[in-house]
Amino acid sequence: MAERAAIVTGASSGIGLAIARMLGEEGFGLTMAARRPEKLAAAVEGVRGEGRDVVEVAANLTSEEDVQKVVAAHRERYGRLDLLVNNAGIGIGAPVGETQTKRLDMQLDLNIRSIVLFYRECLDMLKAAGAEHRHALVVNTSSIAGQRGQAWLSIYSATKFAVVGFTQSMNQELAGEGIKSTALCPAFVDTPMTDFVKGEVDAEDMIRPEDIAEGVRFLLSVSPACIVPEIMFVRPGDPA
Ligand SMILES: NC(=O)c1ccc[n+]([C@@H]2O[C@H](COP(=O)([O-])OP(=O)(O)OC[C@H]3O[C@@H](n4cnc5c(N)ncnc54)[C@H](OP(=O)(O)O)[C@@H]3O)[C@@H](O)[C@H]2O)c1
Repeated sequence: MAERAAIVTGASSGIGLAIARMLGEEGFGLTMAARRPEKLAAAVEGVRGEGRDVVEVAANLTSEEDVQKVVAAHRERYGRLDLLVNNAGIGIGAPVGETQTKRLDMQLDLNIRSIVLFYRECLDMLKAAGAEHRHALVVNTSSIAGQRGQAWLSIYSATKFAVVGFTQSMNQELAGEGIKSTALCPAFVDTPMTDFVKGEVDAEDMIRPEDIAEGVRFLLSVSPACIVPEIMFVRPGDPA
């Protein structure tokens, strides 16, 4: 059984899959969760093919029951949680006057509500890890849109600001118990999420998912005394 264990949400592609792969290299037992079962199964097969221990949970994380299902499956297999990666997220662009309530709710429910629920459901395991080694980690994927508001992406932007604010609050509330939280704030990353813009921005000119995973590896390497509240990832020309 692995000595450390992690949950990664949105682990079936892009940033989440790169983080899961990196954590496998680092010896973590993994729970990989994402929405579409077939896509997740293919990603998990690849990670298991690298010799990793993976619990696979297809879950729609806009649902409270599905969040609980992911945590229960992880708890049953590993009984501990050293790193929680709240990475699943969606962005749906629209002018504010054309906001569709269903899309508004979907972004709020996945991008911020599910993160709050994951903290709540995982808190006992995170506290136990914090008491054991003072280095329990929660990594929340925000965005550069969580640092400055963006036109036509106002709801996404608001949810990602909320992720930064909630991360700060969690450090105030939980760091004393050895639970440290970090918000990742990337600009364009070459993942399926940015396919819509690849006619204008070449994939090679985007940040790689593996770059974000290296940021998480860095977080694992710092001392228990060190909190890294945010990491920005920008590209040449991006406002830094
Ligand atoms: N790519 C960028 O430029 C960029 C920049 C800044 C921040 N981010 C953030 O990075 C995170 C990862 O995005 P990505 O770029 O890696 O995109 P991605 O490749 O599209 O991955 C998104 C992941 O989230 C999962 N997901 C979506 N809706 C879900 C739901 N309702 N329940 C459970 N899982 C769900 C997806 O599974 P399915 O495919 O099955 O839905 C997939 O595994 C997101 O929070 C995003 O906002 C991305």
